Amino acid sequence: AFDVALKKSGKTVHVAEGQTIVDALAGVGIKIKVSCEQGVCGTCLCNVLEGTPDHRDVFLTDEEKADNDQILLCCSRSLSDTLVLDL
Ligand code: FES
Repeated sequence: AFDVALKKSGKTVHVAEGQTIVDALAGVGIKIKVSCEQGVCGTCLCNVLEGTPDHRDVFLTDEEKADNDQILLCCSRSLSDTLVLDL
């Protein structure tokens, strides 16, 4: 489990094991646009401001994943305790 801190809205949301970031955000009324929900289409792409994503998608290239500045919110998680998102 980890937290996502939302820079623009000033909210911090806890993401439990077995819950996606999209689900956790929906729980506080933040709706993320999704399509495939499997890390394939790129619809749920979001910029990462701080922290290290645990990339579980097949959309970003290995190079983009290594940059750690973007995340697919439908499937990827976090390696750091807190991930700061541009939301
Ligand atoms: Fe398709 Fe997240 S909804 S990659």
